[in-house]
Amino acid sequence: MKTIRLNIDKSFGFISLEQVFAQEEKGKKCIAALHNKTGKGNDFLGWLHLPSSVTETEINDIQATADRLRAECEVVVVVGIGGSYLGAKAVIDALSGTFDAFEMNRKNPTIVYAGHNISEDYLYELSEFLKNKKFGIINISKSGTTTEPALAFRILKKQLEDAVGKTNAKGLIVAVTDKTRGALRTLATKEGYKTFIIPNDVGGRFSVLTPVGLLPIAIAGIDIKQLVTGAVDMEKSTGMDVDFENNIAAVYAATRNELYKKGKKIEILVNFHPKLHYVSEWWKQLYGESEGKENKGIFTASVDFTTDLHSMGQWIQEGERSIFETVISVAQPTHKVEVPKDSEDLDGLNFLAGKRVDFINKMAELGTQLAHVDGGVPNIRIELPELNAYYLGQLLYFFEKACGISGYMLGVNPFDQPGVEAYKKNMFALLEKPGFETESKAIKAKI
Ligand code: PA5
Repeated sequence: MKTIRLNIDKSFGFISLEQVFAQEEKGKKCIAALHNKTGKGNDFLGWLHLPSSVTETEINDIQATADRLRAECEVVVVVGIGGSYLGAKAVIDALSGTFDAFEMNRKNPTIVYAGHNISEDYLYELSEFLKNKKFGIINISKSGTTTEPALAFRILKKQLEDAVGKTNAKGLIVAVTDKTRGALRTLATKEGYKTFIIPNDVGGRFSVLTPVGLLPIAIAGIDIKQLVTGAVDMEKSTGMDVDFENNIAAVYAATRNELYKKGKKIEILVNFHPKLHYVSEWWKQLYGESEGKENKGIFTASVDFTTDLHSMGQWIQEGERSIFETVISVAQPTHKVEVPKDSEDLDGLNFLAGKRVDFINKMAELGTQLAHVDGGVPNIRIELPELNAYYLGQLLYFFEKACGISGYMLGVNPFDQPGVEAYKKNMFALLEKPGFETESKAIKAKI
């Protein structure tokens, strides 16, 4: 079986191979700290051996629930925010047909999302869309108290109960949450919903290979066994026993940390396939939330090329030289489209007649890489042999493992997110939530 590959050659000239390899000892220590659970945040390392510890029974339970919802629903609403929805959306978008949602005779239910914003218009329009449709809801929240999903679920639950009755609604709702704690666990127990557990020691942004990601992904008709198999293989090839130079997670972590030391404070994740847009969104949270603390950390951004070459290309080529880019390159497209010959050739494209569109895209990719490196933008390249569940499973685990190593190299706790609470405290104070009286007074004095 092939594997995803990492190429850091085009970062040399900004940093050297020797500098990357000077991180070998530190990298090994960081990997050992992860595996021996001796580093910061070591009570959140459940993701480390998650792929190899998922049992067939668990997969079958997820698949059976997915099959039931697939049979009963035209639409499934995935309710969740941050780590509780981005992984599922990343995989579903990457592996579904771009225009599937517009097909009349769909073989998979339409997956829509809620609870990832507080927009009244979004919720109104979603409710309108769901009217007269057979729909189900997966409510995903580890804490069970996050405002955005709780609010959306309250509204959607009422709509479903009004439409099909309370008893039928229970069979169309699945809760994914903590084993024992939180408001969603209490509600699920009281209502008798089918539930799946988010392990205590797996943080939201590392949870894509738990039912948080696997259930929605299975509902979308994607092979979750292949996804997990890819992750298992990457777990092995980035293990503690693998040499530094052969451990692509360690080399990626070391390279980005070296670039950061050289003043490259922004990393943009680049794709040349629009289906990968949400893989970047998932990645941005994974690295941004893991490393952005103690006034440190690379700022994670992303672009979709060639689209964004026509908007952000100028800045990347000639703006402040504080960025580097990591490109996800897909070697083989799934489908084949050739450029047709045109007898008039008014657009002057006959020189490309008979060529694959992907060949043109690859030349754009190569041309962009050369231009950006010439312009002072170091380039890291991650190549996927093709876009399927197996290689995406490899990619997800690769990024998780590299994130853990990279965070330890930076010297932060990659598994907490204390800064996320600040806006919540202010919002609750402004909303006059019971228990926030003191904060309410303080914040009103500031306004
Ligand atoms: O990575 C994280 O921890 C966050 O993005 C959470 O997943 C997000 O805030 C949602 O939290 P919860 O699942 O508790 O509703």
